[in-house]
Formats: sequence, C-alpha cells, structure tokens
Amino acid sequence: MGPRVGIVGATGAVGTITLDLLARRGYGNVRAFASARSARAELPFGGGTVTVEEATPDALSAGDVDLFLFSVGTSASRELVPHASAAGAICVDKSSAYRLVDGYPLVVPEVNPERALEALDRDRIVANPNCCTIPLTCVLKPLHDAAGLTRVHVATYQSVSGAGAQRMEGLAAESSRDHDLVMDWLWEGDESDEESKLRDETRKIMELPDLPISATCVRVPVLVGHSEAIWVEFEDALRADQAAAILREAPSVRVLDLPEFPTPATAAGGDEVLVGRIRRDGASPNGLALYLSCDNLRKGAALNAIQIADLLLAPARV
Ligand SMILES: NC(=O)c1ccc[n+]([C@@H]2O[C@H](COP(=O)([O-])OP(=O)(O)OC[C@H]3O[C@@H](n4cnc5c(N)ncnc54)[C@H](OP(=O)(O)O)[C@@H]3O)[C@@H](O)[C@H]2O)c1
Repeated sequence: MGPRVGIVGATGAVGTITLDLLARRGYGNVRAFASARSARAELPFGGGTVTVEEATPDALSAGDVDLFLFSVGTSASRELVPHASAAGAICVDKSSAYRLVDGYPLVVPEVNPERALEALDRDRIVANPNCCTIPLTCVLKPLHDAAGLTRVHVATYQSVSGAGAQRMEGLAAESSRDHDLVMDWLWEGDESDEESKLRDETRKIMELPDLPISATCVRVPVLVGHSEAIWVEFEDALRADQAAAILREAPSVRVLDLPEFPTPATAAGGDEVLVGRIRRDGASPNGLALYLSCDNLRKGAALNAIQIADLLLAPARV
C-alpha cells in the first residue's frame, strides 16, 4: 500500500490539489484531515472518496501515519505539527511557521534537495516555501551558478487562489467591474510580509544571506497562476541567449520563445515554471530581465511539498 500519508487542510485550495496529485502518483494509503467544520465531509480521491477527519492533536499523534502534508494556516501549523512530529511522522509544512526558523530546512528540490535530508536527523519537519519563492529560486539558482547574482528586483502578479479557497469563490462571484488589484498582506514598516518573505526565503534557500533583493507584491484578479517580472544583475557578463540556454536545461523550468510568453492561463494545471521574455536589461551593465508564470497551487505549493516527501521517503532513507 506504500507510505501512510495524512493531508492536513485537505479541504482547502492546496489540500484538494494535493489529494489529486497523490492519487495520480499512485499513493493509495491516504487520509484527509481538516478542522471540526469539515469533519465527516467526503472528498474525491482517485476513483472514490476519502472521509475528512478532524485534525486534533490526539489524531495526529496516534503514530499511524508516516508522512503528514500540512496546508493549514500558520497558527494551526504551530499547534499541530509538533504533535505529528513527536509521534515520528515526517512533516512537510506549507505555512510560514517554520520557514525562517534556524535549524528547519526550507526546501525547493531543484535547488537545495540535500537540505531536506537534514530533517531526518532532527524532528523530521521540513518547511515548504512561499508560492512566489519556489518558482523564483528555480530560475535564479542555475543563473547564479553560471554568472554570480549580485542583485535581484522582482514584481509579482499573484492570483487570488494564493489566498485560499474562499477567496477563489469570492472572485468567481464578483462582477468584473468590481475586480481590482490588491495588496492584502500584513505590513511591517515599508514592506508587506509577502515581500519580506520573498526576500528572506530566497536568501535562505540559495544560501546567499546578503543577496540584495527588492520585491513589490500585488494580487491580481486571476484565479490560478502567479507571475513575476524579474530584473537580475550578475558579477560576470551573461547574454540573454546564454541565460535561455541555461534555463532550457534547468529542472522543472520551460523556456517559451516569442511569440509565446508565460501567462497564468498557460501555467495553470501544469507542473513547470514557465519563463520567457529573457532579454538584456539596458539599465545595468550585466543585467537581464525575464518573466515567469507558475501554478501557485501545484509547483508553488502541493507539488513542491510532494517532491520534498519523495526525497524523504526514498526507500534507502526510511
Ligand atoms: N494557496 C496557495 O497558493 C498557497 C501556496 C503556498 C503555501 N500556501 C499555504 O498553505 C496553507 C493553506 O493554504 P490554502 O490556500 O489551501 O488555504 P485554504 O484554502 O483557506 O484552506 C485551509 C485549510 O486549512 C484547514 N484548517 C483551517 N484551520 C484549521 C485547524 N485549526 N485545524 C485543522 N485544519 C484547519 C481548512 O479546513 P476547513 O475546511 O475545516 O476550514 C482548510 O482545509 C497556508 O498556510 C498558506 O499560506 C498556500
């Protein structure tokens, strides 16, 4: 039957995609957990259904699950993850509870897979990054290895599904005349917490603690698919065609050439980070500009967490 997997937050935007991806990957021994509100609901799984259980500390610490994939809010993760971990389960947490805490690996499998394994010597908790950080680091890492990043500017265009299932329903129910851009994150001084997460998580994953990186994050009236306009500067000269050739070889990245370019609609439902409009940035001597789109619910969340789990559950490691 394979590993025993529990999805906590299974009724949410990320949780429902996680269920679908696990079924497609042949995981058969899967349980669904959520709050008391959704207990006993039936969710589609494979050709059948799975019954939602309440995610109580007792249920998560029973010791009968090998791997928990958490997609609940930060405070629920802080409360529940330690119970699952104490019972010996591997926990991949998609909230920001552990991402920037020293000693907890923050992992994008294409960038720093070796960090995931460190969790096996500790409390088996691995943090999954923010939905904009994951595609950004998939693109930055191979370019950094080639030419040495010295500065990054990024502007994001984030879909409403990044704010959860209720916000998706809200957008679908709205008139297009009421749609507008929003910046609905918490603010800490001059920047939103989404902007500081993008900077600090990128630095941690890339192991470049001093990398200058500035972000402006905006939510746009799109259902699924986050996009990012990126301006990068390098130590060494790197032509746009060389960067494109490097990114064509990068795992989980697909380069689109004009007249094609990345859009949320092309990215939604897919597993890759789409990159295009790779061009010289005339405003800086060794600068390039590029644009990406990625399905925030899949590679930006559920898929990345499953890839982390695959690393940790590899037969030689458990
Ligand atoms: N959406 C994205 O693109 C994205 C990307 C990366 C990371 N994340 C992170 O993933 C997490 C989930 O995001 P989401 O977009 O899937 O949110 P969501 O659609 O609002 O779903 C939240 C889920 O958490 C459950 N839940 C809430 N409080 C709970 C509690 N106290 N105990 C157990 N379950 C509880 C909900 O269950 P009920 O049905 O019972 O309310 C629901 O299943 C968040 O931490 C988010 O920051 C999201």
